[in-house]
Amino acid sequence: MPADPRISVTPAPPECGPPAERPEHAREDRADLVSLSLREKRGRHLAVALTPAIAAIAERPEPEMAEPVACAVTDFQDLYPTRPVVSNKGGMQFNDSLCLYLVARFLRPAFVLESGSFRGHSAWLLRQALPQAEIVSCDVDLGQLRHRAEGVRFCERDWTDVELPDFASERALAWFDDHIDHCRRLAEAHARGFRHILLDDNFPAENLYATGGPPIPTLAMALDPELQDGETLVWRRRGKTYRYRFERKDTLDVARRIDKLVMLPDLTAITRYNPPSGMTYVRLKPFA
Ligand SMILES: C[S@@+](CC[C@H](N)C(=O)[O-])C[C@H]1O[C@@H](n2cnc3c(N)ncnc32)[C@H](O)[C@@H]1O
Repeated sequence: MPADPRISVTPAPPECGPPAERPEHAREDRADLVSLSLREKRGRHLAVALTPAIAAIAERPEPEMAEPVACAVTDFQDLYPTRPVVSNKGGMQFNDSLCLYLVARFLRPAFVLESGSFRGHSAWLLRQALPQAEIVSCDVDLGQLRHRAEGVRFCERDWTDVELPDFASERALAWFDDHIDHCRRLAEAHARGFRHILLDDNFPAENLYATGGPPIPTLAMALDPELQDGETLVWRRRGKTYRYRFERKDTLDVARRIDKLVMLPDLTAITRYNPPSGMTYVRLKPFA
């Protein structure tokens, strides 16, 4: 094919040294926009897609939120390239990171409980969105941690075994990205006095292949009237076949607890970045 004179390519800088010593971003930092005008344009599309959900979560009228959301998206696009955990394979990438950043920024909790610290990326993001908040981050394996965000208390235990500071329900957020059963996590959070919950990987039964080790039953499954009690769900991911027997009783009557539910939009159609996002905000009823 003849070279197109309108296109010029600057080769990637050579990777120096043995693979083990190369900086972690050698591979994954290579796909992004450099052109500022294009980044702004992508930001406008992202803000339009996200404003309805963020307005619903913040309980503000949508027209009033368009500009603040657009500004926050711009801040995020500037912030994201500075992240300390550049390679977060197995954890959140651009799409989910943006959703978490916006929810935190507009909900403005004074206390955040995170379950699923992994390398420390989402804890860092929470710290950027909420410089003043108290943040506790739990993971059963903190050996994976690459970055300890300033002032975050990391605990190597399931969150149910962690003592939490006193918090006001209205100003606290429980954020679950630990791939544990959503229904169980919602019931636990409710019992401990949380009302604002953010769940990752809330995929319906027909999309369970979208993530490894999905948090089943997901909230979407619990609210799906088409799923039959006792039905065996079968899916394949990376060549492995998984089976799960859906039992209505395992959904712990989760629907009864919910006051409000907002699905964050899947941003893959705008950014063309994988993986797809499945983030859902839930406001629980006051615990009786
Ligand atoms: C998808 S990763 C979390 C990604 C992270 N939020 C980020 O910054 O991208 C899931 C994490 O949940 C952790 N995990 C598994 N079981 C857990 C449990 N019972 N409590 C807390 N974390 C758990 C895993 O060790 C893993 O680090």
